[in-house]
Amino acid sequence: MKNHWDTVIVGGGIIGHSISYHLSKAGADVCVLDKGTGGRRATGAAAGMLGVHTENRTPGLYHEFCVKSRDMYNELQTELYQCSGIDIQLTTNGMLQIALDEREAKELQEKQQSFPSLSWLDDREMKIRHPWVKSSGALWIREDGNVKPEKVAEAFKRGARSFGSTVKDGCFVIRIRKSGQGYEVTTNEGEIFAERIVVAAGADSGPWFRETGLPNPMVPVKGECFSIKPRNLLFQETYFSPSFYVVPKRDGSIVIGATSREGDGSESTSAGGIADLMDQVFRVFPALREEPLEKWWSGVRPGTSDGRPVIGEHPQEKGIFFATGHYRNGILLAPATGKLIQSLFEKGTFAKKYEGLFSPARFQIGGVYEHTR
Ligand code: GLY
Repeated sequence: MKNHWDTVIVGGGIIGHSISYHLSKAGADVCVLDKGTGGRRATGAAAGMLGVHTENRTPGLYHEFCVKSRDMYNELQTELYQCSGIDIQLTTNGMLQIALDEREAKELQEKQQSFPSLSWLDDREMKIRHPWVKSSGALWIREDGNVKPEKVAEAFKRGARSFGSTVKDGCFVIRIRKSGQGYEVTTNEGEIFAERIVVAAGADSGPWFRETGLPNPMVPVKGECFSIKPRNLLFQETYFSPSFYVVPKRDGSIVIGATSREGDGSESTSAGGIADLMDQVFRVFPALREEPLEKWWSGVRPGTSDGRPVIGEHPQEKGIFFATGHYRNGILLAPATGKLIQSLFEKGTFAKKYEGLFSPARFQIGGVYEHTR
């Protein structure tokens, strides 16, 4: 039985499968280890927003990376359907970042100055165009939308398989050890060997930083969500505010998220968390209150100590790469992360542009460390 691959990816979420897809499409020999505990860590729990301008973003290289990744979905939609038969349910109906009071309205109007492609809708225009929302105005972000995260992950997985990659479901890593020019990976299914390892284990990536001598930057942040299945869909746009978001999906349900519990890596959903979220949302969207409740759930976001993902090669252990810490942006950034790892392997121009921004070396003592949260 085959037990040697060029690249072994630790983690079978959307990031691991995107990397596998991009590498195997380019001809690499890849195996994904998915411990598949059946729990919802981040991918299965995410609402799937492609929110380039929300999440406190300012213009700059990180914002450019977000735009690049969002735009990759337009082509991936067809490409993934062709190789996997899966529709990732991309919608591009736009997003509104809503202001709940005058202070937020002022902040969003200032933000609009930095992003000329966005437009400001004042409270009067909101009442006419979005009468179901009680707001003090909103930023209209025409190009953003959403996808169905588990469909994207499955499409990347099947697409990668069609290019020859292997997926080991139910397989978890016990130890990684240097072996010749590569690494020996001890798993619950035995030993396997790889030239390169990519750690893409989301909120469970922490031990692999420690094991390889780096400070662990990972911070679990639990999020709780619920969904409703409205009898009549009043709107198709996504609405975002700092404390909640409302995301209409193509299957007719509306996903509403999310709480934010820093340091909590557990998977239970608290009644109080969902009640608080409902309270905030129904004050702004009173028409949703009477609609049928569908389900509720939680997930664990892979946060980092400076709020930015970690994508790049270990500063000392050559051949070990990290692609984790995407915090609230894993679905948005999955395509560009796959492309970035591929480019890092090939020493391409995409990697040259972005490797400094996401480098794991920034967490070392003496590394460049910016606290941005
Ligand atoms: N991307 C939204 C969230 O993490 O709640």
